[in-house]
Amino acid sequence: MLPWLFIVASLTLALASPSAKRATVCNGHAELCDRSFGNVTFFGSHDSFAFTTDPIVLARDQEVDIPTQLGLGVRLLQAQAHMRNGALHFCHTSTYPSHCRILFDGGTVENYLKKVKTFLDANPNEVLTLIFTNPEGVSIPNIWKPAFDNAGITPLAFVPPSIPMKASDWPTLGQLIDSGKRVVVFLDAGADGQGSGNFILPEFPMIWETPFSQTDASFPCRVDRIQGPLSTQDHMYMINHSLNVNILPIGDGVLVSDPVDAPVTNGVTSIVNHANGCAQFAAGRAPNFVLLDYVNIGQGKQAVDILNGVA
Ligand SMILES: *[C@@H]1O[C@H](CO)[C@@H](O)[C@H](O)[C@H]1NC(C)=O
Ligand SMILES: *[C@@H]1O[C@H](CO)[C@@H](O)[C@H](O)[C@H]1NC(C)=O
Repeated sequence: MLPWLFIVASLTLALASPSAKRATVCNGHAELCDRSFGNVTFFGSHDSFAFTTDPIVLARDQEVDIPTQLGLGVRLLQAQAHMRNGALHFCHTSTYPSHCRILFDGGTVENYLKKVKTFLDANPNEVLTLIFTNPEGVSIPNIWKPAFDNAGITPLAFVPPSIPMKASDWPTLGQLIDSGKRVVVFLDAGADGQGSGNFILPEFPMIWETPFSQTDASFPCRVDRIQGPLSTQDHMYMINHSLNVNILPIGDGVLVSDPVDAPVTNGVTSIVNHANGCAQFAAGRAPNFVLLDYVNIGQGKQAVDILNGVA
């Protein structure tokens, strides 16, 4: 009797295991596999495409390229897109709203996404979030979705069962990885999560942000850019933790991000203090996204590990 039971049990296990292959390490930590996507803090890169080591380029917000940022542990890539010469480019415009020519052109969105896909293919146990801004309201089905399709990212993108999703309703990182749907895409404008581009999700009904273009190094917390029916507490949230300096103190001035401040701004103390100041708006929860300039400077990854309780 017993040997038979044993054989049956082993057979069942052997048959079940290929389909029941479960991720045991998620985004570098076993502890994160059972945590909801809405209950994890991710390290984010502000204006991720705007990288150069040349300090003369004032419009830069990063020093290292996308693969290097991802290698440092960045798992949220933020970027702003505009049409240029008939193609969607990531570029930075500051106060000149409609063209890429003035400041920084990071190339086409499609080429950028191809680099992201290379990382995803090499790192199957990683969940990655993309938050892009679409100030010109460029078409989702005609322009944005084809860029994702051509880069091969569409099949990896998570489509929520309904929108808006509460922070607590998101699947766990383990579920996202096991299902192969481990890229979460948000757009600040023009997305409704419907139709053929349904994986491109509207940001503000599900995520609020702290104010941007902050020039106060103490980062007082305030809820900004929130939308939709979900309560503040049911939203995820992002701390926009980059300090700007005004290099032209007349009129509206010109705000630029200053790498000189980055070792302090991107230090554990400054990031954790900012997060603690925001917890009052989130039932005590840590931020979901910590968005930094100069991700290669300071201790962004370490601060995020502390906020996740995995340091
Ligand atoms: C996740 O949940 C824990 C326990 O409630 C909490 O301490 C932490 O701040 C949460 N993190 C996020 C990003 O929600
Ligand atoms: C804050 O985040 C938004 C992205 O969602 C971005 O448009 C803005 O430039 C950010 N500002 C700073 C100063 O980081």
